[in-house]
Amino acid sequence: MKVLIATQKPFAAAAVAGIKEILEKGGYEVQLLEKYAEQADLVKAVADVNALIIRSDKVTAEVLDAAKELKIVVRAGAGYDNVDLAAATAHGVVVMNTPGQNSNAVAELAIAMMIFMARTQFTPATGSEVQGKTLGIQAFGNVGRLVGAKAKALGMKVKALDPFLSDEQIAAGGAEPVHSLDELYAGSDYLSLHIPALPSTIGSINYDLITKMPKGATLVNTARKEVIDEAGLEKALEERPDIKYVTDVAPDNLAVLQEKFGLRVFATPKKMGAQTAEANINAGLAAARQIVDYFATGNTRFQVNK
Ligand code: 3PG
Repeated sequence: MKVLIATQKPFAAAAVAGIKEILEKGGYEVQLLEKYAEQADLVKAVADVNALIIRSDKVTAEVLDAAKELKIVVRAGAGYDNVDLAAATAHGVVVMNTPGQNSNAVAELAIAMMIFMARTQFTPATGSEVQGKTLGIQAFGNVGRLVGAKAKALGMKVKALDPFLSDEQIAAGGAEPVHSLDELYAGSDYLSLHIPALPSTIGSINYDLITKMPKGATLVNTARKEVIDEAGLEKALEERPDIKYVTDVAPDNLAVLQEKFGLRVFATPKKMGAQTAEANINAGLAAARQIVDYFATGNTRFQVNK
């Protein structure tokens, strides 16, 4: 049985070693495809593998067509919008994620980004403090809850909106429940996005919402670039010179935004929320264990295309 680790953005070496150890102990042969130049390299590499471990790598219908022996794909991470779930299901391929395993890394980055913007991108210009300010969290899942806890430790007030959670669950996670997007945006000095990219969320963070934010507010995006209506964001930044945007997922119009808005906009050069040794080890090893367990016992607990 062959397992391919296909990561355009490689795991830390310690994570690769740990994944290999688990799989080889289970009798699997491990292949590694890192930093590949083209999607065609992935299509070629999957030809005879039985299992696939990926990060944000794109598992398209073309990849699934080429992977004649493939039984399981594990996305070492949370979001699985990079996998064509319908095509996987049509090919009888199980798709899993590893929820929670890289959440702390993303949460730490969200907090770091917030402070980076509050302190004017570490330039000598006078900044502001986050203590006493209100952080609104849109989607209170694994990452959102960790962001909230860290923000509270910084002395921030934390509010959260999550249509899948009751008020009691949000309160138990340490945040004040909010019931509408308008209320969340209007009441947040910092707004941290933790929603997945779904048909219902793509382009949903638009001009109307962004301009609801109070004076001096900052929108923090460690989620997905697709959830932002980029034209709406640009218009909002234009009309509201007090608003800032910081993101781990560069928008298509980044060059324009940076030219027009300077220090009010920042994007990491490459998505780095989950890029810590700890997150790589947690998510990578979990992925390896889930594969071993799936073939040994049929465990589909983390399957996302049921
Ligand atoms: C996730 O969905 O888990 C994060 O966006 C991390 O993605 P990455 O593994 O490509 O860094």
